[in-house]
Amino acid sequence: MEKIVSLCKRRGFIFQSSEIYGGLNGVWDYGPLGVELKNNLKQYWWQVTVRDRDDVIGLDGAILTHPAVLKASGHVDTFTDPMVDCRTCKARLRADQLSEKNGVKQCPNCGGKDLTEARPFNLMFQTQMGASADPASIAYLRPETAQSIFVQFKNVLDVSRKKLPFGIAQIGKAFRNEINPRNFTFRSREFEQMELEYFCRPEQGMDLLAYWLKERIKFYEEIGISRKRLHILDVPEKERAFYSKGTFDIEYEFPFGRQELEGVAYRTDYDLQQHIKASGKTLDYFDEETKERFVPHVVEPSAGVDRTVLALICDAYAEDTAPDEKGKMETRIVMRFHPRMAPIKCAIFPLLRNKESLVTKARQVQAILRPHMNVFYDEGGAIGRRYRRQDEIGTPFGVTIDFETLGEKGEELRDTVTLRDRDSMKQERVAIKDLPQLISSKIR
Ligand code: GAP
Repeated sequence: MEKIVSLCKRRGFIFQSSEIYGGLNGVWDYGPLGVELKNNLKQYWWQVTVRDRDDVIGLDGAILTHPAVLKASGHVDTFTDPMVDCRTCKARLRADQLSEKNGVKQCPNCGGKDLTEARPFNLMFQTQMGASADPASIAYLRPETAQSIFVQFKNVLDVSRKKLPFGIAQIGKAFRNEINPRNFTFRSREFEQMELEYFCRPEQGMDLLAYWLKERIKFYEEIGISRKRLHILDVPEKERAFYSKGTFDIEYEFPFGRQELEGVAYRTDYDLQQHIKASGKTLDYFDEETKERFVPHVVEPSAGVDRTVLALICDAYAEDTAPDEKGKMETRIVMRFHPRMAPIKCAIFPLLRNKESLVTKARQVQAILRPHMNVFYDEGGAIGRRYRRQDEIGTPFGVTIDFETLGEKGEELRDTVTLRDRDSMKQERVAIKDLPQLISSKIR
């Protein structure tokens, strides 16, 4: 994990937020490469979950949430973690994450055993709307994106005229005042979710739970996460929310242990019923064929953007050996991102930076590729070192413009380049005109 955290900072994937002021605990900023990786992940999720399907539409709800919404959903009263204080070092700790020695609970910071009783701590961030500070001005930063989907269910149904089963998808920020943020970005106080609420008839719920679990595992494989590091936990009834008829956690083997990436839960009609009761509005569905009116049930695949980005980074990280400029074997760090997820798809290198004709040609190749993918131009240093820099950030393809490209080694090689593959390090000679199609076919 130390190597990964250090690479993330050194190469601009993830920085501690407000670092120059000592950092804001549990809050992270994504750097130039991190934002590309994160956007690739979100775009791919949106593509397969919304755009490739006839039965799912999107929503982008607000972060600031009316307290009545979160009162009805149960968050105001029960969205808590058990908290204890260490009387020795004054640390605030999650009661379920204490270490234990000889059967006695102790503080993981100082080893102290003088701990307070556990008490519930609400994880929601509260803020104030407008200038007055009275209780009526309270608003919350949403703790999950799901609630705006339930609250807007009727509006979306009316405008989209979808028939059951259908889903409403959303990607967006969520906020939880975690007692103990830890494991890099894994448990943060500000994070993003990719959630789908898939509405159905009650009798379809269990089958759709199995269906979405399969779809979601397929998704992780498609973004390049190795299947052998993914695990499915069938959450036992006593650990599920009381309204859930089935929940699967999709877990990933992080370097710090096996941890949840996503929950796929059959939430029955709990959320819609709660909002019907609290708002007095009808949030039901009329089936034209059977002439029945009922409240739909829902299956919810809920994934964390930041946790998936972290899993992508952990899964991609590898060390192998490669020859340096003099042919001596050295250790190389290589991020084996699936080309679909890689922040930069293709790096463009003129063989020499001080030969104008090579530089001009390389800039032309950059202009040809740019509309199709994220490219990076690099003319600094020996070519081997430039390859290594791209390997370390997971760029799957490298194009070198050399004297053959200029036609100086035979007319038949004019306007061809070498295309290097990051993983095999093999190079092939390719015509410039074929590059956009060739690389595009591998990154989509
Ligand atoms: N709407 C259901 C829901 O929010 P959850 O299991 O609490 O369910 C879903 O959250 C996903 O959101 C988790 O599987 C995880 O990927 C992500 N997530 C939750 N809390 C997080 C945190 N503190 N930091 C980063 N990601 C988090």
